[in-house]
Amino acid sequence: MTVDLTNVFQQIDGDYDNLKELLREAVAIQSVSGDPSKRDETIRMVHWMKEKLETIGTVCELADLGTQELEGKTVKLPPVLLGTLGNDKNKKTLLVYGHLDVQPAAKSDGWDTEPFELVEKDGKLFGRGSSDDKGPVLCWLHAIRAAQKNNIELPVNVKFCFEGMEESGSVGLPELLEREKDRFLAGVDFVCISDSYWLGTKKPCLTYGLRGICSFFVEVTGIKQDLHSGVFGGVIHEPLQDLMWVMAQLTTVDNRIKIPGLYEQVAPLSAAEEKTYDDIEFDVAEFRDSVGATHLPTEDKKTLLLRRWREPSLAFHGIEGAFYGPGEKTVIPSKVIGKFSIRIVPDMDPEEVNRLTVEYLNKVWAERGSPNVFKPRPGHSAKPWVVDVNDSNFLAGARAMKRVHGVEPDRIREGCSIPITLTFQELTGKSVLLLPLGAADDMAHSQNEKNNKWNYVEGVKTLLAYIMELGSA
Ligand code: BES
Ligand code: MN
Ligand code: MN
Repeated sequence: MTVDLTNVFQQIDGDYDNLKELLREAVAIQSVSGDPSKRDETIRMVHWMKEKLETIGTVCELADLGTQELEGKTVKLPPVLLGTLGNDKNKKTLLVYGHLDVQPAAKSDGWDTEPFELVEKDGKLFGRGSSDDKGPVLCWLHAIRAAQKNNIELPVNVKFCFEGMEESGSVGLPELLEREKDRFLAGVDFVCISDSYWLGTKKPCLTYGLRGICSFFVEVTGIKQDLHSGVFGGVIHEPLQDLMWVMAQLTTVDNRIKIPGLYEQVAPLSAAEEKTYDDIEFDVAEFRDSVGATHLPTEDKKTLLLRRWREPSLAFHGIEGAFYGPGEKTVIPSKVIGKFSIRIVPDMDPEEVNRLTVEYLNKVWAERGSPNVFKPRPGHSAKPWVVDVNDSNFLAGARAMKRVHGVEPDRIREGCSIPITLTFQELTGKSVLLLPLGAADDMAHSQNEKNNKWNYVEGVKTLLAYIMELGSA
């Protein structure tokens, strides 16, 4: 039996001020997990969410994860919020995951408004975390509230797992989930994560694949301290020159990876899979313009999507120790650490990628012939994730999208990584659905992150519709 949600949807539209107020409060908490000075705020964010979940009758616990070493200091890890709403043996159980922490942000990075003050302008809600991932997390809360206000019984029990360390590698969460396998995770039938984005700005989609990631550090030293470039320039081997040369050997001008053996590991593309790309709605020009580029390495829709979703890519993130402030500084840095990461896809194995990459770096270094000290090393890594799009969980998600948006969602993959997705899948043995609510141009991690008012409100409806659809999944 399908419950008619027309009136509830209208009520959700009418309740916009409350929905916005929730997001305003959440954005104002500066839960930047990567910044040790903001750790108390990150912890406060988890407590704030606990109170909110309790208002809808959720039984909550805070799982303590102990401490971590960060920038030479021992700091507390934020607890993980585990919630249980409903315990009916005759119902199936949905587990929802989301993250309460955000990336760093400062107005001086180039934001038009204060990043931790929610500002509504032209139908957009600007603020750090408005889209990644506080907005979607609050959609769950609001969706269930709406059902309760209308005396609609949820057809499933709902469990929540909200963490505060996702943007910093989910430290401690995989181990906690392993410990909770036979307790909190027992009896879970479906998992849903709303922490990805639509492919464009108009059409909804379901995400069935994520790339994994392998991070690298390349350190070059050789002199005992920074030196005056006038006095020492030309008569020493500069670590930064070496590093830039080595890093430049990693990719071509069109951003293809030069490390031998990497592309060979990529799972072959079958004709049937390739065909699924034909129907996907994606505007290459809109994508190019959205990033402000004049040209892209490829502007063919299928090739571009394949490169984003099912081929590896290498990105450079920065150089620690190199001068980057405004103005001039005629200095030769003594120790520099280059940082880059490779996004990986099936059937690439993180260990093998690490091995091939370090081997290649060492080979290039030998060619450089510098007497400086060279230390390449792998950092964090995570495996890629791809699933079947036709199981009952995905079909419920598709019906929900159709109910709210009137169209069948595209099935897409993502270039990004949510490493915990695979952990949930392996530990529960159940299907994990990635149900994106935000638009492609939300600018997660960047300046002026926003969530469209429309996406936020429709997101509440979508999650409610999804929960209701699970009743017949
Ligand atoms: N929400 C993102 C992941 C994401 C972004 C999925 C865009 C789909 C589309 C998540 O918060 C994130 O930023 N993940 C990191 C993980 C990394 C630190 C291991 C990422 O992908 O860089
Ligand atoms: Mn996220
Ligand atoms: Mn993120």
